[in-house]
Amino acid sequence: MSDIDRLRQDFCDELSRIASDTDLKRAHDRFLGRKGGVIATLMKTVATASPDERRTLGQSANAFKTEIEDALAARQAELAAARAPVGAVDVTLPGREIPLGHAHPLTIVRGQIEAIFSRMGYEILEGPEAEDDYHNFQALNMPPEHPARDMQDTLYLGRPIVQSIAPSGPPATLLRTHTSAMQIRYMEAHRPPVRIIALGKVFRRDNLDLTHTPMFSQFEGLVVGEHVTMADLKGTVTAFAREIFSPDTPVQIRPSFFPYTEPSAEVYIGCVFCAGAGCPVCKRTGWLEIMGSGMVHPAVFEAVGYDPERYTGFAFGTGIERVAMLKYKVDDIRLFYENDLRFLEQFPF
Ligand code: DAH
Repeated sequence: MSDIDRLRQDFCDELSRIASDTDLKRAHDRFLGRKGGVIATLMKTVATASPDERRTLGQSANAFKTEIEDALAARQAELAAARAPVGAVDVTLPGREIPLGHAHPLTIVRGQIEAIFSRMGYEILEGPEAEDDYHNFQALNMPPEHPARDMQDTLYLGRPIVQSIAPSGPPATLLRTHTSAMQIRYMEAHRPPVRIIALGKVFRRDNLDLTHTPMFSQFEGLVVGEHVTMADLKGTVTAFAREIFSPDTPVQIRPSFFPYTEPSAEVYIGCVFCAGAGCPVCKRTGWLEIMGSGMVHPAVFEAVGYDPERYTGFAFGTGIERVAMLKYKVDDIRLFYENDLRFLEQFPF
């Protein structure tokens, strides 16, 4: 009899721990299992008891068995009641995440450039990627033999490079080497005042390396009016640099040469990698060149029929990749074109 009391205590402990169907089955097998179950073993013991004990023991054992069966059935009913009906929606489950695509880093930077210049009142343009020699070179004060054509190795679509050796014949078609060609197209079609940004792909005969790809993107700015000065140029590029990089970016203008501007200037910012202290990226100078610029050359105005005595203007241009590389501290331009998600997923919308 004391054995039955001990087993009952055991069962009560087990019953209190039943929280799932698996627990329920384990308890059922342990106590009611036909072979080796607690009750089955108990019944065998009862059978070996002396005849006068057997009757009371048998009654107690049977009562215990019924007790267990009832308790397990009640527990099973509780578990079933707690379960949601088949087909019910569990509104407490977390939603399934839908992976969102996001903009390419160059698209992000291009959008920021457009936004900055839109706020300053600029018109945003694109333009043809296949150009003619006239718009890409000649009208920008680079006649056929001009040595500045060597600054950019050109990919020709029509007549090949011998154009510069034999300037007569049909004009060459080419892939534009810079967005500066859009200065000409816009001024041919519009009278001053002019305030434009032209963005898009440009192409050069360059081999792939850390800083070169045969196709990349640029943006070109052009402002023309009656009293436009170099101070306007400096103020504009400074405002741009401080918006796209950071409000305290140091900006410097240094003399340079471009055939289509006079005077010409290069725009520098304090090195974004070492904050001006000097590092390998800025070659220990503390400064990085971010764009070419200058006052529009009178020969360019003459080519588009603007009076160079009346109008002045400034222009600037640079690579969108270059801006993106400095902004996001990317050290290899090829990353923008390899479509490796481990790279692309690091950029915000
Ligand atoms: N076209 C030049 C380039 O591709 C950039 C440039 C320099 C644009 C000076 C300009 C400028 O408008 O004035 O590297």
